[in-house]
Amino acid sequence: MKTPDIDAKAVKTENSQSASKEIATLIPGGVNSPFRSFHEVGGHTIFFKAAQGSQLTDIDGNQYTDYLGAWGPAILGHSPPSVVKACQEAVESGAVFGAPSLLELEMAKSVIRHFPSIQQIRFVNSGTEAVMSAIRLARGYTGKDIVIMFEGAYHGHSDSVLGSTTHQSSAGLLGATRERTVLTPFNDLDALTIALNKHCGQVAAVIIEPVCGSMGVVLPEPDFLQGVRKLCDDHELVLIFDEVLTGLRVAKGGAQALYGVSPDLTTFGKALGGGMPIGAYGGKREIMSALMPIGEVYQAGTFSGNPVTMAGGIEVLRLLDDDAVYRVLETRTAQLFNGIAALVEDRSLPIQLQRAGSMFSIIFSDHPVLNFQDSKRIDAERFAKFFHLLLDNGVYLPPSSVDAACVSAAHTSQDIDDTIEMVEHAFKRVF
Ligand SMILES: Cc1ncc(COP(=O)(O)O)c(C=O)c1O
Repeated sequence: MKTPDIDAKAVKTENSQSASKEIATLIPGGVNSPFRSFHEVGGHTIFFKAAQGSQLTDIDGNQYTDYLGAWGPAILGHSPPSVVKACQEAVESGAVFGAPSLLELEMAKSVIRHFPSIQQIRFVNSGTEAVMSAIRLARGYTGKDIVIMFEGAYHGHSDSVLGSTTHQSSAGLLGATRERTVLTPFNDLDALTIALNKHCGQVAAVIIEPVCGSMGVVLPEPDFLQGVRKLCDDHELVLIFDEVLTGLRVAKGGAQALYGVSPDLTTFGKALGGGMPIGAYGGKREIMSALMPIGEVYQAGTFSGNPVTMAGGIEVLRLLDDDAVYRVLETRTAQLFNGIAALVEDRSLPIQLQRAGSMFSIIFSDHPVLNFQDSKRIDAERFAKFFHLLLDNGVYLPPSSVDAACVSAAHTSQDIDDTIEMVEHAFKRVF
């Protein structure tokens, strides 16, 4: 990314443009996950053929400095050599056995080493599966139905967490499912208290992203998570931290370590698999013991805990044991964040910068975003223009005004300086 002249479009994307037309005839919307479409920002999607470190290469041969991080997994950058090697060796030894391997044992030990709240764990294949299974487990364990979640949170695409009027709702859900999911505003303990009292004796679980990543990066206000923990204890229900995104990103040990609040169950995904598809859920032994074959709650999976994913995950967690990696993540993210903050302050721009660890958002709004209602007042049109200016000049942000962007340990100081320079040019154009 060398072009400081924002007006001269540095990338030419004819091949992506024609691929995006053709693929839309075969795959709905041209994407296998709607987030990937450019629905919000307009234009055609970019097709990639390679990703290495902080850089993405598209099918027209353009390079982009990547702040999508594959929506979270690329915490060490793309294709870290030792993770690739571990996965290759695992494939060569047999990609899937459908029976236990020692890699599952080692991976379980690795996660538990990072997260003391986990006494037992199950590995699945995505964050969605982890959340779906944790909710079923909480219902089976408590014998209760209702799940409380927070407006604007994203917990994947299982029915229980879409059965609401949050920004990721869906047609095709049973009415009964919708009724058993109750929404309450993030950062509002009074509202949670009212919801719990209203459904007293019927609530199985409260599920929360301890730091929200899909309505702008929204931090919990002081004592909010402690308050949620206490209310869950008072009402004797299961507190689930959805750390699919935050797990390794906001701190070593996740948001639960950062804020000192211990959930009953935690869901994981994304960065935990070293780029391989992964999900996991775990927590108190007493609750996890309700799972079949010892208990009565069913959850299964042909590819769950497969050797390739386990090998990738073990290596990622081994690399993340080194505090130096977290220092690099912090240094690079702070460099980017402070650089952009200085630009915003200089010109008093109506932009909120919010971050936790290596995830951040540049929110086009003149007021801080503390909850879903705040996030709805974002200037999406201006964001779209900003997004395309950066994209055209080799900086890839999430194609969404509210989803978290990610920095990796592979970003160099030069990457960040170049990005700040490009952001400065883009701000001048959009404001
Ligand atoms: C907090 C959170 N939970 C769950 C999920 C779902 O994970 P997956 O996309 O792997 O199914 C996501 C994905 O964005 C997420 O951010």
